[in-house]
Amino acid sequence: MGGKRFCALRMPGAGLWIALTLAFLAAIAVVAQSNIFDLPPLPKPASYGNVLIDRLAGTEGSKAVGFSHWSHRTRYSCRVCHFELDFVMLANASEITEEANRNGRFCGACHDGQIAFGHTDEHCSKCHTGSSKGNAKQFKKLRKLPRASFGNKIDWVEAEDSGMVTPIASILEPDFEPFPFKEEFEVKAAWILVPPADFSHNSHLRWLDCSNCHPDLFKIEQEATENLLMKNILQGQFCGACHLTVAFPIQDCKRCHTKMRG
Ligand code: HEC
Ligand code: HEC
Ligand code: HEC
Ligand code: HEC
Ligand code: HEC
Ligand code: HEC
Repeated sequence: MGGKRFCALRMPGAGLWIALTLAFLAAIAVVAQSNIFDLPPLPKPASYGNVLIDRLAGTEGSKAVGFSHWSHRTRYSCRVCHFELDFVMLANASEITEEANRNGRFCGACHDGQIAFGHTDEHCSKCHTGSSKGNAKQFKKLRKLPRASFGNKIDWVEAEDSGMVTPIASILEPDFEPFPFKEEFEVKAAWILVPPADFSHNSHLRWLDCSNCHPDLFKIEQEATENLLMKNILQGQFCGACHLTVAFPIQDCKRCHTKMRG
């Protein structure tokens, strides 16, 4: 009799203890993970998203080419370069040559002396800088854009939402409208105690084309992509194809795992 009463009194306490233990384990799991994961070093805000293009320039006796994403994405969405102009989303993977540029391909699609400075002698050194540091003076002009904690420290989604930057989605089709696909979902984590990552097609489609993600990076079906794990993301796969180098970086855990604490 006494035993039963004892149990009845203890039960809520036990529930609380289990909850506390689980919360504690969850906290440990997350802290341990952030230490175990080998996060890549973060460059300075003005260098984040800069690429040093040196597939040929070095061997041809000219300096390597510095390209800044932040200076171009204020005007153009990713889609313009990575869909319409055939730039590969990987440093030194596109077959850019001086001749192709002069013929209006790659950089030359815009750097033609009309839309932007052209391929004439006085401008060679603007691109062939030999450095990926980026133009600090010009970066300062972006100070007024909404802030984020990592990467360029610019919240590019908010900057676009508020109309402070107006990147165009196409230079080939003047009437192009991004596909109105509003679907949002959670990508479940493989670990029970880790909150899921949020994914919104809508925020991505303002910048990207379906083909930037499907079918190479993700299957077109929820939870169908295999091996979608942090360790692979950190190797540049899946979300890591963009969120290590150009889109806000992987250090910003809570921007994907919005329910993650600590
Ligand atoms: C708008 C930017 C830009 C401008 C301006 C520019 N280049 Fe380049 N150039 C590039 C890029 C990007 C590459 C590819 C680099 C690589 O893959 O190593 C390149 C490659 C080259 C190469 C090596 C590949 C090849 O095709 O031989 C040479 C040489 C070169 N440029 C010379 C010049 C000269 C000379 C000028 C000025 C008359 C110039 N570039 C102006 C962006 C530019
Ligand atoms: C004006 C053209 C342009 C725009 C706009 C642009 N990119 Fe790029 N991107 C490039 C070039 C050029 C490279 C280097 C390609 C090469 O070296 O072969 C590159 C490379 C990349 C890489 C590989 C970086 C690395 O270090 O390996 C990623 C990821 C990427 N872009 C993502 C994006 C995303 C996301 C956006 C939109 C927010 C975007 N790009 C907008 C031109 C552009
Ligand atoms: C879709 C159009 C577009 C493409 C493609 C493009 N640019 Fe630009 N770029 C511009 C515009 C517009 C400006 C600003 C106007 C100006 O400076 O003449 C600019 C400015 C720049 C600047 C000066 C600002 C800065 O970032 O320091 C550099 C350097 C540059 N581009 C390099 C490149 C290189 C290298 C490539 C190819 C790998 C490239 N751009 C491809 C449109 C483009
Ligand atoms: C760009 C979005 C993004 C960012 C930023 C991000 N994650 Fe993830 N994370 C994911 C996705 C997607 C998954 C789902 C993969 C799975 O586990 O099935 C995931 C899964 C996880 C998992 C489950 C186990 C695993 O290895 O997949 C842990 C733990 C985790 N993330 C921790 C972190 C920590 C800590 C950070 C910050 C240092 C972080 N994540 C930043 C997208 C992100
Ligand atoms: C930034 C990357 C990205 C872009 C761009 C993108 N998707 Fe997706 N899409 C995903 C991810 C991630 C998933 C989930 C895959 C998984 O869980 O295995 C997904 C899933 C889907 C699904 C399955 C959804 C469901 O409810 O089962 C469809 C349909 C889809 N995408 C269509 C599209 C279309 C159409 C476009 C272009 C208008 C597009 N996607 C652009 C990343 C992207
Ligand atoms: C092809 C490139 C690419 C891939 C792959 C990609 N993203 Fe993104 N993502 C972007 C860009 C570009 C933005 C705009 C913000 C920025 O550049 O910092 C963005 C923004 C976001 C945001 C902020 C949305 C908002 O409304 O504020 C989240 C969350 C996010 N991505 C999660 C993910 C997750 C999770 C995955 C993998 C399942 C993923 N992304 C894969 C390019 C990509």
